[in-house]
Amino acid sequence: MPIVSIPALGLRLQAAPDDNLLKVLRRHRVPIAWSCKRGECGTCKCVLEDGQVRLAGYEEDALPPGQRARGLILACSSSLVGDVRLRLVDPDEWIEHPKRHLHCRVLDVRRLAPEVFALRLGIVGSDDARGPLVFSAGQYAHLRVRDAQGLWVGRDFSMAGTPVEAEYDGQLEFHVRRTATGAFSSLLGDGLRPGDEVRVEAPMGRAYFRPRHAGPLYAISAGTGLGAMLSLVQTALDNGKTEPVALYAGFRNVSEVYGSQHMAEMERRHRNFRAHLVVEFDSPQGMRVGRVGDALLADLAPQPAGAKFYLAGSPSMVDAVSRQLLARDVPAGDLHADAFYAPGPAD
Ligand SMILES: Cc1cc2nc3c(=O)[nH]c(=O)nc-3n(C[C@H](O)[C@H](O)[C@H](O)COP(=O)(O)OP(=O)(O)OC[C@H]3O[C@@H](n4cnc5c(N)ncnc54)[C@H](O)[C@@H]3O)c2cc1C
Ligand code: FES
Repeated sequence: MPIVSIPALGLRLQAAPDDNLLKVLRRHRVPIAWSCKRGECGTCKCVLEDGQVRLAGYEEDALPPGQRARGLILACSSSLVGDVRLRLVDPDEWIEHPKRHLHCRVLDVRRLAPEVFALRLGIVGSDDARGPLVFSAGQYAHLRVRDAQGLWVGRDFSMAGTPVEAEYDGQLEFHVRRTATGAFSSLLGDGLRPGDEVRVEAPMGRAYFRPRHAGPLYAISAGTGLGAMLSLVQTALDNGKTEPVALYAGFRNVSEVYGSQHMAEMERRHRNFRAHLVVEFDSPQGMRVGRVGDALLADLAPQPAGAKFYLAGSPSMVDAVSRQLLARDVPAGDLHADAFYAPGPAD
């Protein structure tokens, strides 16, 4: 008779040959999450540390080959063929949306600050027949447009709109900081007009909102990292999160500041939400002065238990704040960041 052991819980469960693994776990009230029970949603993932199962009848989106190679299985799609040793996982850590290649058109380009633009795209088609784009708040996309010479130029940008807007309205928004010599960003302004073609590969990134987390949420941004963090915070609040949610939006100087009215409106709507605008080199009224990480750390006394930290923006901010948080014993698993690294030579 096969034995299912879960050392972390001190369990050794009796099963029958060919038993469905999820059934065995549920029969013994093992705390595993599940939803579809037919290999479509990926909720019942666990790690097969030892032994074999017969895994069949599941969709690749629910368990991509890369995860399978790392030992993950779907309990609902696994039949027992012998003894197995399992480790349960937090399903939030294994959210994986299928990557899509989308055909988009520019809907509009709005100026948010002198050198910051909101680029809004309409999704008009895709290379597959999968329906709407699904992503998690905080993720990013690779955008490609034609430059003045007609050559394709591509850069990564984080989704600033919420997943709901993409799924139901077919729209994507990005906040882009323009630099005069930037191959992509210099096209913002006059170089990209409504109707222009944009190719989008999405979604990507691990710094996405963890919906099952119960505890305070801190979102920290530098510059246009604010787009990703607004998407994430808005999604958390829309999901009915009741624990404190704080957004620390850092800018180098006052000319880069944007989104303050939007954040003030969010504060009015959600009593558990606080926005902190921090400007490094000026001290305009109503904003804090200094580095965004220092403002955050000054407020973290005493340190809240069970908090998660999401970071987006320049590598220097993300590295510095991550190091400071780790030094304060924040577990690495509660830090989620995709820094805005410059593109490699192949881009
Ligand atoms: C995961 C991720 C998410 C991102 N999200 C966002 C976002 O939401 N918003 C956003 O604004 N950005 C984001 N970025 C950054 C973005 O992808 C681009 O790197 C950034 O916009 C710069 O592109 P560019 O076209 O302006 O300039 P590039 O042409 O890439 O040049 C970058 C800068 O370096 C200078 N430069 C170029 N070549 C050289 C050289 N050889 N020597 C010295 N200097 C040089 C240019 O003058 C320019 O100022 C993200 C990056 C990543 C990795
Ligand atoms: S419960 Fe949906 S994949 Fe197993």
